[in-house]
Amino acid sequence: TDVKATNITAVKHNVTRSKRAEMLGVDSKFRGCTIWFTGLSGAGKTTLSFALEAELCSRGVPCYGLDGDNMRTGLNKNLGFSPEDRMENIRRVGEVAKLFADGGIVALASFISPFRSDRDRCRELHENSGLKFIECYVATPLQVCEARDPKGLYQKARAGLIKGFTGIDGVYEPPVNPDIVAGANGETVKENVRLVLNYLEENGIIP
Ligand code: PPS
Ligand code: MG
Repeated sequence: TDVKATNITAVKHNVTRSKRAEMLGVDSKFRGCTIWFTGLSGAGKTTLSFALEAELCSRGVPCYGLDGDNMRTGLNKNLGFSPEDRMENIRRVGEVAKLFADGGIVALASFISPFRSDRDRCRELHENSGLKFIECYVATPLQVCEARDPKGLYQKARAGLIKGFTGIDGVYEPPVNPDIVAGANGETVKENVRLVLNYLEENGIIP
């Protein structure tokens, strides 16, 4: 993206990550990171990330769910679904997730994020700041998403009422090397939550 701001000097915080961790959650360990859920509309990204949010909260792990539909009513309400707008959507929410993670919070980001390069840029942004970026592919097949059609959007897209709908006449580029794959085999929400929790436990992110 083009840079317009000039005469800007980044300022370093006085508060360290370990100081933030001391203030937050179980055993004062810094666990700020981003778990990024990507997948088709209706794949179960929101359901999984919000179920996980509830589970982490009940364990005393500070976390916050950032969701496509929600972000598009506020910060990103001036963006639509053209490839350019989706790119800008993901750029902004990637930056927001990074801020949450930097603050010691587990950011749970659920966005279709159809473009691999956009997701890779979000990872780079995190890793350049020493923050973990965990990509979770919610791999529910199109056929299943379309059969569910929770918001009736596939039906509208098939009828030509929505143009550029992901999976119908809009592209989705699946992750090549996701950290976690959920939902590929009809797992329940509970099973998918368990899958992510296992990953977080194995990688020392939660106790
Ligand atoms: S993206 O592609 O990452 O910028 O999309 P995102 O911010 O996650 O928003 C996806 C939600 O927007 C609704 N919606 C559409 N999705 C895909 N394609 C088109 N054209 C579209 N128009 C509206 C839909 O409710 C998506 O929510 P989920 O939860 O993914 O079904
Ligand atoms: Mg959703």
